[in-house]
Amino acid sequence: MARSPIPQVSLPDGRVVPALGLGTWRMGERPEARRAEVAAIRAALEAGTTLIDTAEMYGEGGAETVVGEAISGLHDRAFVVSKVLPSNASPAGTVAACERSLERLGLERIDLYLLHWRGRWKLADTVDAFERLVAQGKIGGWGVSNFDVDDLDALAALPAGARCATNQVYYALSQRGPEFELLPRMAALGMPAMAYSPLDEGRLVQHPALRPIAAELGASCAQVALAWLLAAGVRAPGVIAIPKSGSVERVVDNAGAAALVLEPRHLVALDRAFAPPRRKSPLAMI
Ligand SMILES: NC(=O)c1ccc[n+]([C@@H]2O[C@H](COP(=O)([O-])OP(=O)(O)OC[C@H]3O[C@@H](n4cnc5c(N)ncnc54)[C@H](OP(=O)(O)O)[C@@H]3O)[C@@H](O)[C@H]2O)c1
Repeated sequence: MARSPIPQVSLPDGRVVPALGLGTWRMGERPEARRAEVAAIRAALEAGTTLIDTAEMYGEGGAETVVGEAISGLHDRAFVVSKVLPSNASPAGTVAACERSLERLGLERIDLYLLHWRGRWKLADTVDAFERLVAQGKIGGWGVSNFDVDDLDALAALPAGARCATNQVYYALSQRGPEFELLPRMAALGMPAMAYSPLDEGRLVQHPALRPIAAELGASCAQVALAWLLAAGVRAPGVIAIPKSGSVERVVDNAGAAALVLEPRHLVALDRAFAPPRRKSPLAMI
């Protein structure tokens, strides 16, 4: 089947990843859904949305085991992102959590390892542990998640701070807060954003403001929401969207967003329906 190439985003370390990936939150929780979830992850590899986002938190490790099963023997085709819980992010705890994740994923290396959100452990200690894991080849790079501007400034002040690959944040048409101050600060740091819940946990997939554009373009509302994020990513240094789906059909639908061209008039209509922020508000988190 012919498919559009997925746009690519460069990480600060020079590695290139697809601008569309696959989320796995709520996978690995129900045994009866496992087969479909494994098939969905394999479909993402086929479709070119090969960045697979997971975390030790999801399904208490269950999502990582589903990812591990799906990409067994196929790691060269996937870019695996996982996350350490803040409660585990001490110097020794970070390394131990990573080793447990590697075991569940069946991998020797996690391509990108993120601090899930900032917690009680000193950022410098977590970053030191990340750097040790990079030196040991257990992770390919590291980053953060749910960091607002002040957290990023604290990170940037650390000696290794410039090696942060990304900040994964809640960013969707209906959640545009990061556009004010946070995304510009990340751009100044040369750091692409990873947009989580890009379909607003499914709230956008039937949204009345998206339906007319979707109908005109012969697309789904999900594709319009994702194409809008890809268009936002054209404004440097890139946005990587990680919609979650446990269905092959919807994974393929989401990959189709890469082929969708939103014209300026569509973007104007979307700005009218989902107003860009006019002032800084605290970073929203799910
Ligand atoms: N760092 C963090 O703190 C954080 C927080 C939240 C999420 N995340 C990451 O971001 C990923 C995505 O966020 P999310 O899972 O919260 O929400 P999301 O991707 O915005 O939405 C997922 C929901 O949309 C449905 N869906 C997906 N594609 C669809 C389509 N084409 N048509 C209709 N429905 C569709 C899914 O159902 P089906 O599965 O049934 O298709 C699911 O119910 C997570 O899985 C996780 O990896 C990170």
